[in-house]
Amino acid sequence: FQPKRLAGQQVLVTAGPTFEAIDPVRGITNHSSGKMGFAIARAAREAGAEVTLVAGPVHLPTPLGVRRIDVQSALQMQAAVQAEIDQASLFIAAAAVADWRPASAAEHKIKKDGSGLPPALHFVENPDILAGVAASERAKQGELYCVGFAAESQDLLANAQAKRARKGVPLLVGNIGPATFGKDDNALLLVDAQGAQELPHASKTELARQLVAEIARRLPVAG
Ligand code: C5P
Repeated sequence: FQPKRLAGQQVLVTAGPTFEAIDPVRGITNHSSGKMGFAIARAAREAGAEVTLVAGPVHLPTPLGVRRIDVQSALQMQAAVQAEIDQASLFIAAAAVADWRPASAAEHKIKKDGSGLPPALHFVENPDILAGVAASERAKQGELYCVGFAAESQDLLANAQAKRARKGVPLLVGNIGPATFGKDDNALLLVDAQGAQELPHASKTELARQLVAEIARRLPVAG
């Protein structure tokens, strides 16, 4: 028997990569599969929460009972999050949002011009969705609990601690590599004000359940 640890919570989860268009047929993205974010959405639902999942382009079925909003780009993901966040009591940012996007997407397919020179692509930085939400008044008042993720290739603990401070979130979850993208299992490092705690190697389904339980323990008591 699993107690409904998130009963009464409204959970907003971001998952998957984003896709930043270069022209109508091309773009840049990354190897995020969305599996961890989808597993978290499912685990949060199983724990009794109402769950909205903002998903970048992934090939995954919608978890039962979860409301899903599909997006492509970081700007679309940000708009979807902004439209939903006032209803949320818990925000879990598991998406691998592209750091940059082409400054403008070409209206038509970019063609070779015969010069032998490739086109110059100019990039601009995408907004940090998580940092923006964490800086909001409701988050600062404790009405909205924010959880971030970090995929680091080295110095996970130090990087996760620095990222936790930089993003302004109470809990930062590090993927204990190597290369968790696309895999069905992982191990996690939970970093909060109290220190660091490892969730050892397990399936993403199992880790998501453990993570949800750990988040539930950290939520302010209602009332
Ligand atoms: O800075 P970095 O991309 O490593 O931060 C990862 C965390 O921040 C993840 O929780 C990710 O979902 C979130 N993020 C975001 N918007 C961005 C970049 C990252 O919400 N533009």
